[in-house]
Amino acid sequence: MPNTLARLVETIVEATASPYPVDRYLELIDPMLTWRDTRAKVVDVRRQTDRSVTLTLQPTRQWTGHRPGQYVEVSIVINGVRQRRHFSPANAATRSGELELTVTAHSDGFVSRHLRENARPGMVLGLGRAEGDFTLPTELPDHVVLISGGSGITPVLSMMRTLVAEGYRGGITFVHYARTPDDVPYRAELEALGRTVDNVDVRLHYTRTATGEHFTGAHIADVAGIDGAQLYLCGPSSLMAAVREYADAAGLADRLHTEAFSLDTSVVVDPDEPITGDVTYSAADVTAPNDGRTLLEQAEAAGLTPEYGCRMGICFSCTKVRTSGCTRNILTGELDSEPDQHIQICINAPVGDVEIEV
Ligand SMILES: Cc1cc2nc3c(=O)[nH]c(=O)nc-3n(C[C@H](O)[C@H](O)[C@H](O)COP(=O)(O)OP(=O)(O)OC[C@H]3O[C@@H](n4cnc5c(N)ncnc54)[C@H](O)[C@@H]3O)c2cc1C
Ligand code: FES
Repeated sequence: MPNTLARLVETIVEATASPYPVDRYLELIDPMLTWRDTRAKVVDVRRQTDRSVTLTLQPTRQWTGHRPGQYVEVSIVINGVRQRRHFSPANAATRSGELELTVTAHSDGFVSRHLRENARPGMVLGLGRAEGDFTLPTELPDHVVLISGGSGITPVLSMMRTLVAEGYRGGITFVHYARTPDDVPYRAELEALGRTVDNVDVRLHYTRTATGEHFTGAHIADVAGIDGAQLYLCGPSSLMAAVREYADAAGLADRLHTEAFSLDTSVVVDPDEPITGDVTYSAADVTAPNDGRTLLEQAEAAGLTPEYGCRMGICFSCTKVRTSGCTRNILTGELDSEPDQHIQICINAPVGDVEIEV
């Protein structure tokens, strides 16, 4: 059907089905029958390690695939409330077809623990579009150094699997940090790739074994400086900081591409900056002294449970109206005090008195 006609039919159908979008009705028949929404059925579940779960998903026809390194928003209803989180597909890039997510359960993580414990074939999840620019360039570099820690393995594994599948002939160095050998999802596959594919060099380091090893420049010095090498890094903030420091010192900062799964909010509070004022959460009728952290963290500390997704400024699910007062965007440092503005409370910290519709 030509696009305009399809859109016309869609508008008429949605108007008839009002007040709800047509997908709300279709899901009563079959959650995988959708007009507009992208959803995915879990078709396989593997628990590769004690802390992770690997899901193979069969998406609906709207899914247009991902580029290696990108992420998708996944939504799931838990106890009647839809939760949204982001995951980076670990499979090689595709334009359609199945995708694979590996979720590492955080000890206090609501969605990751739920999936680790309850994911089963047949479960249906909401799926966003693939997004993000942490991905390989169209013109591939001569050497690719992929560095990851813990759950950060997924986007760089997608890169390596894509390069291998496409017959890339440059060098691939895959450096991964995990607590122990048993804590590495895909370990058998990684070791096999390192053994059997000429241009792949896999280096696994363990941080909680007797010889506990954290990142040092020596782990990549032989390859990071190769002419034309590019470095791709994803992992916990301590690993990211150590690799950044090395790249800066070695003059390689412009070759380093990074992705973080969470924001290090411990650096938000400036010890030299006085913290003043109160935060008023107007919808909850609660006021508490400003402690300098983000509005999301302060609201949670005050016992409130505002909606959030990524906690790092990419999904907008935490957006609320700041009715009055001044806030600082912790990513850009920008101050804003215009009244009645929508702000993302996960990346804004109050400066003095603030009233927010939470
Ligand atoms: C781009 C991107 C890609 C990602 N890819 C992957 C991936 O491939 N694999 C993977 O495993 N993960 C990935 N993640 C991380 C994932 O999206 C989730 O953040 C992670 O699974 C934790 O979610 P959760 O619901 O289990 O934890 P949450 O329950 O959201 O908890 C996370 C943290 O939020 C804080 N918190 C939450 N609620 C409260 C409260 N009431 N009071 C105080 N503090 C609170 C705690 O500090 C907690 O540790 C990715 C994230 C991003 C942004
Ligand atoms: S939670 Fe995603 S932007 Fe705030």
